[in-house]
Amino acid sequence: MKIKTVDIFFFTGTGNTLLAAKKIADALESNNCVVAINDMAKTNPQKINLSNTIGIGFPVACWNTFPIVKKFIDNLPQANGAEIFTFTTMGDSSLNAAANFGDILKNKGYTLIGTRGFLMPNNFIAVQKEEKNILKRERAYFEMEKYAKDLADGTTKAGKTNLFFKICFAVSGFITDRWNGNLFQKIVKFRVVNHRCSKCGLCVKICPVQNISIKNGCPVFNGKKCQVCMRCISYCPQRAIKSFLINKTYRALNDEEIKKWFF
Ligand SMILES: Cc1cc2nc3c(=O)[nH]c(=O)nc-3n(C[C@H](O)[C@H](O)[C@H](O)COP(=O)(O)O)c2cc1C
Ligand code: SF4
Ligand code: SF4
Repeated sequence: MKIKTVDIFFFTGTGNTLLAAKKIADALESNNCVVAINDMAKTNPQKINLSNTIGIGFPVACWNTFPIVKKFIDNLPQANGAEIFTFTTMGDSSLNAAANFGDILKNKGYTLIGTRGFLMPNNFIAVQKEEKNILKRERAYFEMEKYAKDLADGTTKAGKTNLFFKICFAVSGFITDRWNGNLFQKIVKFRVVNHRCSKCGLCVKICPVQNISIKNGCPVFNGKKCQVCMRCISYCPQRAIKSFLINKTYRALNDEEIKKWFF
């Protein structure tokens, strides 16, 4: 069946998934659909309009996704056949995360019309050179346009998962469920190098879960809420946020887009 009115809900750390949401939205609109893009971090999932087709887009994290995305999906209302599609962005491999989440959505009563993962630049640890990132984005954009056209034509199929992927998903789910607890935060340990920090407050504004506050003029990480989404460390204009795990960062968005979407 062809789709007409689409509400896309995305989560992004460094911008890849927002770029994906925009590319898919543009291509759907070129195929006569009406599309709205919404930030999951600012949306109450219980209030979404189930008479529209729903698109859910998120980054892969540890072959799964961030707690904030899982919470959004868990809190979606039960549906009576409402149409839904998923898309993920990943640096290397997702072990079929889009399809595994698709199964959760099917169990909530949604009609799953498509699941797709797109290879985009890696934003965590293995960040590559910009020449490679450009190529990766170009290839992904091509695939995204094709996915959107197939969605609009009603010819997509939901990806299938199997026992191996389900076991991996359960293990990665166990790990990411503990992500925003103390242990993981102690491992990653973001810290601000005070003499580099210009006290501009950007990190406080753009953190999707309000995990950073200002104490005595300096940003302080409160720890427990952090999703390890990489947004603050990647977009800090002074490169004043550090973690022993991270020596290179990645940004997909320019200053205007950051203001438009994250402020
Ligand atoms: C904490 C963390 C874990 C990640 N784990 C994976 C992974 O398991 N597999 C993968 O392919 N990419 C992984 N990535 C890379 C991101 O999925 C990828 O770069 C994604 O496109 C980032 O999207 P965003 O810019 O919308 O945040 C990880 C990124 C982060 C920050
Ligand atoms: S974004 Fe960077 S420079 Fe600005 S307040 Fe945060 S740590 Fe300091
Ligand atoms: S503190 Fe930084 S890495 Fe953690 S959720 Fe906020 S923006 Fe993301």
